[in-house]
Amino acid sequence: MHYRLLSFITASVALQATYASPALSPEVYDYIVVGSGPGGGPLAAELARAGYPTLLIEAGGDEGENPTYAEIQHFNEAANDEATRWDFWVKHSDDPEREAKFEHTTWDTGDGTFYVGLDPPEGAKYLGIQYPRAAVLGGCAMHNAGVCSLPADDDWNIIVNKTGDTSWEAKNMRKYLKKIEKNEYLLPGNPDHGYDDASWAKNESLSQTRILKKIAELTGQDPKKAAELVSRDILEVGDDVDETVSFYNMAFHATAKGERSSPNSYIRATLADPAGYPLTVKLHALVTRVLFDNATLIPGSTPRAIGVEVMTGPSLYRADPKHVPGTKGPISQIYAKREVIISGGVFNSPQILKLSGVGPAEELKKFGIPVVVDLPGVGENLGDNYEGSLLGIASSPTNNAGQITLLFRTPNAPTKKRNIYAWCGSFSFEGFWPGFPTWYGNKVYTCALVHLAPKSQAGSVKLRSANPQDTPEINFRFFEHGGDHDLQELVEAANILREAWKAAGEPMAPIEELHPCKGPVQPGSERCSDEEQKEYFKLQAYSHHASSTCAIGGDDDPMAVLDSKFRVRGVKGLRVVDASVFPVVPGAFPSCPTMMISVKAAEDIIEEARRTDKKL
Ligand SMILES: Cc1cc2nc3c(=O)[nH]c(=O)nc-3n(C[C@H](O)[C@H](O)[C@H](O)COP(=O)(O)OP(=O)(O)OC[C@H]3O[C@@H](n4cnc5c(N)ncnc54)[C@H](O)[C@@H]3O)c2cc1C
Ligand SMILES: *[C@@H]1O[C@H](CO)[C@@H](O)[C@H](O)[C@H]1NC(C)=O
Ligand SMILES: *[C@@H]1O[C@H](CO)[C@@H](O)[C@H](O)[C@H]1NC(C)=O
Ligand SMILES: *[C@@H]1O[C@H](CO)[C@@H](O)[C@H](O)[C@H]1NC(C)=O
Repeated sequence: MHYRLLSFITASVALQATYASPALSPEVYDYIVVGSGPGGGPLAAELARAGYPTLLIEAGGDEGENPTYAEIQHFNEAANDEATRWDFWVKHSDDPEREAKFEHTTWDTGDGTFYVGLDPPEGAKYLGIQYPRAAVLGGCAMHNAGVCSLPADDDWNIIVNKTGDTSWEAKNMRKYLKKIEKNEYLLPGNPDHGYDDASWAKNESLSQTRILKKIAELTGQDPKKAAELVSRDILEVGDDVDETVSFYNMAFHATAKGERSSPNSYIRATLADPAGYPLTVKLHALVTRVLFDNATLIPGSTPRAIGVEVMTGPSLYRADPKHVPGTKGPISQIYAKREVIISGGVFNSPQILKLSGVGPAEELKKFGIPVVVDLPGVGENLGDNYEGSLLGIASSPTNNAGQITLLFRTPNAPTKKRNIYAWCGSFSFEGFWPGFPTWYGNKVYTCALVHLAPKSQAGSVKLRSANPQDTPEINFRFFEHGGDHDLQELVEAANILREAWKAAGEPMAPIEELHPCKGPVQPGSERCSDEEQKEYFKLQAYSHHASSTCAIGGDDDPMAVLDSKFRVRGVKGLRVVDASVFPVVPGAFPSCPTMMISVKAAEDIIEEARRTDKKL
């Protein structure tokens, strides 16, 4: 542990020297962006590329050249890596009995190891459910699986409805995907080219092909077309895309060679560009609060953000497993002539706002934080995709054929839109805990489920203390509203996929299911009821796509934190740009949508700056 910490500091000094521009004194920039993930990274780069001196502050270091991060296939190692890991210990509900049944509950044994399970050793300290985040240049887009998917059109259009701002119309948002995307030559499916992807799906002697065809039949697709659909563009354009049930080719923010493409790549390219864009990156710097102009903190005046307070040094945040209790760093103030933009992610952005006096007045007073503006919505409305999996052990190795990816609609989905994103293949995915995932050998077969449009967003991020090095208290309150229906949708999805497993035949069959229904999957074998499966998903569902804790909303909505231009309500010179701005959970995977809003925010901010400058 000590060895690690020292080597880490050495590394960070080298990086500081590479990235920090000559010290300005006092430190002043046009814009300060806090956090370099999908929300803050592209935004900071765009502001600098537009000529505005911009400081990007990141609590973590840079692992852009570390193969664990640079090659996307290592994503599980990356998410477990102590070099960047921030462990948030969260709850899924307010019910201690329900929490006590979560199979991957994690405990601190006190001897430097974790215990994961339901039977902790004597004296172990309860931590909760691990929710990994990456503190690193590029944020969680540096340890994620890189899956790129788009929200349903309505997930964008709801912002138009709430705010009247038509720039959020789904058809307009497409241009931001194009802006972040560098498509590699041509998409598969071009009639004038040959492709070798998905040829496995034409091989009738594979169990996977039989499963594929059966899924097609059960979800209303033409089994004869299944092999072709496997390479369909999942980011396709069309009026009825959200109602389309189909197999697709999973898309990644990565190159065809499997190199991760993330905000880290874009930030590095911006710094290295011979044009000399005015971007400064400060690593290993924890922003502790936003500074306001004292002259505006008087009745009748609108508080104006003028900078941030920063504590400098590595591993200063308690979520960092390398954090040594009591360690502090020097505190300094950095000023922004134009604006401060908070992009710390769904847990940290509301925490930073609250520490700065922007949040629910009652909560702030409890911790002695002077209230700058009473904004009750900060840290509320936390939502996430519910996830679960059908996991089994086949009778033969499963790693001989490709992955099945599909978006489909379960029979009782609340609308005509598809409500499940699923992918099946030779892997295990059962959520997150220290050391995840479990290795089940090469006969493992999983269909992973991501549920779309959860009806409950009753979660919250609340302060535990006024100490900025402390983590907040996070409770997702899964299934609080409409939970029974969402659980039913998950069960229906599992039932459809299990039915397809029965078609596997030799050599994979029979598949021994481990969950949600224990036992061999065979024709005619109904082993557990919908109610039992519902209970399983209620207790064991997991998630890793948190969103919506600083939501955009209308002028008449007291819970709205931001207006449609990402401006924090009730103050000037302050915005939030990251996954916390979405009023509803954006589709199945938030990373690409967050990069899209990041470049949208840059456009909005630059436009406003030019307008203001013209007036002056
Ligand atoms: C293991 C895992 C796998 C995932 N897989 C996928 C996937 O395949 N596809 C997908 O779409 N999504 C995936 N996600 C989710 C996705 O990565 C996130 O939704 C996305 O990164 C959110 O972007 P963000 O900018 O809001 O926040 P983040 O990515 O969390 O970035 C916030 C940044 O701010 C920094 N920061 C926070 N507080 C401070 C502070 N006080 N001072 C300075 N810096 C600060 C952090 O260090 C971090 O770098 C995954 C997430 C995890 C955890
Ligand atoms: C937006 O409002 C219109 C009119 O009230 C409604 O028909 C539509 O369903 C709403 N769309 C969303 C995404 O909320
Ligand atoms: C089909 O799959 C089987 C089993 O893996 C394999 O032996 C066979 O060579 C494959 N056929 C073709 C045409 O690829
Ligand atoms: C603003 O007020 C705070 C609290 O009274 C004080 O600590 C700080 O020094 C003031 N800042 C400036 C720039 O005057």
